[in-house]
Amino acid sequence: MPPMSPGTGSLMREGTGPTDDGTASNDFFEVVTTARSVRRRIDFDRPIEPEVIERCIEAAIQAPTGMNREAWRFLVLTEPEPKTRIAELYRSGFDGLATRFRDQIPPEMRDQQFPNERPTYVGLAENLHRMPILILVCSEGRPDSDNAAMQVAFYGSVLPAAWSLMLALRASGLGATWTTLLVTEEERVAEALGIPPDVTQTILLPVAYTLGAVLKPAKRKPVSEVTYWNRWMGGRESSE
Ligand SMILES: Cc1cc2nc3c(=O)[nH]c(=O)nc-3n(C[C@H](O)[C@H](O)[C@H](O)COP(=O)(O)O)c2cc1C
Repeated sequence: MPPMSPGTGSLMREGTGPTDDGTASNDFFEVVTTARSVRRRIDFDRPIEPEVIERCIEAAIQAPTGMNREAWRFLVLTEPEPKTRIAELYRSGFDGLATRFRDQIPPEMRDQQFPNERPTYVGLAENLHRMPILILVCSEGRPDSDNAAMQVAFYGSVLPAAWSLMLALRASGLGATWTTLLVTEEERVAEALGIPPDVTQTILLPVAYTLGAVLKPAKRKPVSEVTYWNRWMGGRESSE
């Protein structure tokens, strides 16, 4: 990554540098701008050392936690049986959503990135059971169903840790994908994994070493378009 000069406002890198290939990195801006979904070029056969996962979780649980409750729980699946069951449930949720939303995806968005390939999320669904590790991030308790502030506090106390985990995995040279589809099957997942009813499931991270996955910053709207200063829609330089 070339050195950044303060105020250039851009973290996008030119070309494909040595760290585009999913190898480990200790550069925070490198990691945070290239923590892409890894659903292709996956090494299904390379085992992941439990110590690597524990080190990543150790970093993740430094995230903020409301009332210092540390309600997060990380359910790490390594054995074929629970992984196979969870993959079945993921696919069941996937089929349900695909059917529900099929007509709502604008035609120009369908498969636009790789018109000649199947979408990568289909590949992930089909191969989920082959991933060396699946991590289900849970939180003890249930969100308050009609109090927005409590919901923000509830999810705000677990998702920062989950995202830190995703970043730590990326920094360790592991690929992962942030997925929420499994929650559509929450009851059956709880039954399969022995999760008590007062525990909330959040994201599932399928984790694997990559076979040279290309990880680059995504194209995003400019910062100036999504950042307001001092009031809604306010610009940085003016007081209009
Ligand atoms: C709230 C949320 C839920 C997501 N759920 C899924 C999912 O269930 N399955 C999946 O394959 N990807 C899921 N994704 C990943 C997105 O599809 C992905 O971020 C998007 O394709 C852009 O790719 P990138 O992460 O490489 O930038 C989810 C992302 C977010 C933010």
